[in-house]
Amino acid sequence: MPQENLMQKIMSLCKRRGFIYPGSEIYGGLANTWDYGPLGAEFKNNFKREWWNNFVRQREDVFGLDGGILMNPKIWEASGHTKGFIDVLVECKKCHNRFRVDFLAGAKKCPECGGELTEPKKFVPMFKTFVGPVEDSASIAYLRPETAQAIFVNFKNVVTSFHPKLPFGIAQMGKAFRNEITSGNFIFRTLEFEQMEIEYFIKEKDWEKYFEEWKGLMESWIVGLGVKRENLSWRRHKSEELSHYSKRTEDLEFKFPFGTKELYGLAYRTNFDLTNHAKYSGKDLTYQDSETGEKFYPHVVEPSMGVERSLLAILLDSYREEKDKKGIRVILSLVSQLAPYKVAVFPLLANKPKLLEKARKVFEMLKTDFSSSWDERGNIGKRYYSQDEIGTPYTVTIDFDSLEKDDVTIRDRDTTKQIRVEINDLSEVLRKLLEGKLKFEKAGKLVK
Ligand code: GAP
Repeated sequence: MPQENLMQKIMSLCKRRGFIYPGSEIYGGLANTWDYGPLGAEFKNNFKREWWNNFVRQREDVFGLDGGILMNPKIWEASGHTKGFIDVLVECKKCHNRFRVDFLAGAKKCPECGGELTEPKKFVPMFKTFVGPVEDSASIAYLRPETAQAIFVNFKNVVTSFHPKLPFGIAQMGKAFRNEITSGNFIFRTLEFEQMEIEYFIKEKDWEKYFEEWKGLMESWIVGLGVKRENLSWRRHKSEELSHYSKRTEDLEFKFPFGTKELYGLAYRTNFDLTNHAKYSGKDLTYQDSETGEKFYPHVVEPSMGVERSLLAILLDSYREEKDKKGIRVILSLVSQLAPYKVAVFPLLANKPKLLEKARKVFEMLKTDFSSSWDERGNIGKRYYSQDEIGTPYTVTIDFDSLEKDDVTIRDRDTTKQIRVEINDLSEVLRKLLEGKLKFEKAGKLVK
């Protein structure tokens, strides 16, 4: 499938099926903003839960944090953002579109209309607001452009509460904001987005070892959630590209339809942030080694991952079309942990009260355990197609045999195979299937 078509198809599916809508749409929109609909909200929450489970709950050496979006503006001076977090822009004198110089790849003319470009100007892409009723320079606050700084300014608090031994990490996920002026490619580049970041505190001598370790962890984690390994590659930043705080950065890039671009970043930030915060705040932010008594500023390796870019990569790599007798079947082969609905329940026919009643009972039972959908519209084939397109791994149908035998049919999204399972066993069978503990063909009696 041509890649531009794929992007169009994903965007249209997201809009039509309630995953992602253009932001402020009825007012003509607001560039580079998007709203998540009922299925998108489930998908996104499932994804974020996976990250938290994997990188925080399952690890004894990582502590979670939920810091504020608004913080003391001195933080952004100490972190170097007010001076060093800069985009260099040019404007087309003819069509007035603006471009980031680093995205122009040396082009001297406007890529939209061929017009002449202005001289480059510096621009700090942090959103400003004011705290309190007076809008003056003393009351300026910034919407955080990265979640990382709340971690550094709470470093001492976490150390004091938990006495962790090096190496250890502090993790945070949440909104970040950047005044992006270039066009966003759907949810790839947006004004507000969510980051999932870890500052992994280490001894300086160990940085290369942990840098390599985190590369592996980041890559295998997202591959486990449905991104194809062959679409991923690592790219090391050239020295002129490095952020003001970094000694080494590597991007995990993904082959998007609009080019191979950064999915995640991994940076060796040295002890830049802790030493600067100690200097600007006047507070002692050193770490004391419990064995040697030595006091020092730990260094950090920082895996930084974006929620929206991950969702886009997963959607792109999960989308499939299959030709069958009735036309084209669209399948979103999401891993079950991420699917908005785990199961959909159908009465075979909607106009038979006994079937409806039985199906409702099954639905009521399942929805306490799984995110479940109910559908009684149209014919059964259309209902299957409709669930395949939104990634529902299993559908359960209640038919006339169910009334006598107290069993149902489960259909598998990926193979379209069906099995019969007793209602008494249904929840347990579905749970095992969703957790990958049971093979579909072995879970019940295969239906011919
Ligand atoms: N703390 C380091 C940091 O913020 P970054 O490379 O600027 O590094 C990290 O951002 C990740 O955040 C990116 O790899 C990307 O996944 C995501 N991200 C950054 N800007 C974004 C934007 N405007 N829209 C969506 N995601 C973005």
